Amino acid sequence: MRTPQKKLVALLVLWAAVLVFQVVWLSEPARLQRAQARVLEEQIARGARLYAQNCVICHGPAGEGVIGPPVNRPEWRENLTEIEREQVRSFLTSVVELGRGGTDATTWEITGEPGHWTITSYTRMPTWGRSQGGPLNEQQVEDLVALMMNFDWSTSAVAQMIAPHIPPANLTTYENLPEAQGVSAAANERGRELVAQNCLVCHMIGDYGRPYGPNLTDVGNWTTPEFLRDWLTNTDTLWPRMPTVWMGDGVRKTTPEDVPVDWTGIHKTIMPNPVKDLGLSTDDIELMVEYLSGLRGG
Ligand code: HEC
Ligand code: HEC
Repeated sequence: MRTPQKKLVALLVLWAAVLVFQVVWLSEPARLQRAQARVLEEQIARGARLYAQNCVICHGPAGEGVIGPPVNRPEWRENLTEIEREQVRSFLTSVVELGRGGTDATTWEITGEPGHWTITSYTRMPTWGRSQGGPLNEQQVEDLVALMMNFDWSTSAVAQMIAPHIPPANLTTYENLPEAQGVSAAANERGRELVAQNCLVCHMIGDYGRPYGPNLTDVGNWTTPEFLRDWLTNTDTLWPRMPTVWMGDGVRKTTPEDVPVDWTGIHKTIMPNPVKDLGLSTDDIELMVEYLSGLRGG
């Protein structure tokens, strides 16, 4: 080959190389974005599974809030600047990592006069971080935070990504449930049987049931027979003892005016009314109340 031809070939090769480099270089941001989106998707999927296994019981399948406040909060996800996103991320990470205050009691107290209620929660947000002796490692806490900061909590998203991972009910016959202390034989037989048949689909007692509503293993410690009787007959019309007070913008409410529910009336719970919905009689309720009041854990 003569020299000018060689030069031409070299030039062409160089030009081609520059071209290839440019194409790769220009498409890099898009590729990076796609890769980041994929990583986030995987994180949300892992977060959804962890949420179903650990958080649903207190925050609800759709993040709507049950014993704890709602976690499906738009202000953690929408219209945030980069700085605000970092603040939310660090707030959520520390709450999940460290937990927050309170006791093991599932109780709420509403005090004061009509128009000036104060709601006090005694329920603790558990500590989850392994660094604090909790069960979740850093990656898992990060996955949960990614979920709360990105998931849209729509019915279909919940059905697809969270519901399938909620532990199935570990049902059993009544003989396997603990006997209650200091109650009648009828309560320990028939009362226990009614609870096994009607309540384990949503509540845990010992190792049995499903962690959907609050755990009833020691329900006798944090309720009274009067409350239980009322709850099991007027489930749908009781005052909000737990969750609905958190609804709305997620800020803790202190007066009825702040609360976007009808305080004089409806407690919108997904728990069925045992009398109206499950067809139980007042005698049945009495036996269950007696049995449950004697359940004190341990
Ligand atoms: C035993 C019940 C319980 C469980 C289980 C639970 N939480 Fe909580 N959580 C609470 C309570 C109660 C609060 C409110 C505590 C307070 O402010 O006094 C809370 C608060 C929070 C908050 C702060 C909300 C706010 O408005 O400040 C976040 C975030 C949260 N929980 C996430 C989670 C995640 C994620 C999981 C699962 C790993 C989880 N929680 C499991 C009871 C629970
Ligand atoms: C379909 C699910 C479901 C079934 C079935 C169910 N529960 Fe519940 N229950 C819940 C949920 C969810 C809550 C949390 C409170 C709320 O949503 O307002 C709850 C709350 C409770 C509470 C606490 C109420 C409070 O304010 O402190 C008790 C006690 C209780 N249930 C007992 C029972 C008993 C007894 C049965 C059986 C007769 C039963 N539940 C059946 C879902 C259910």
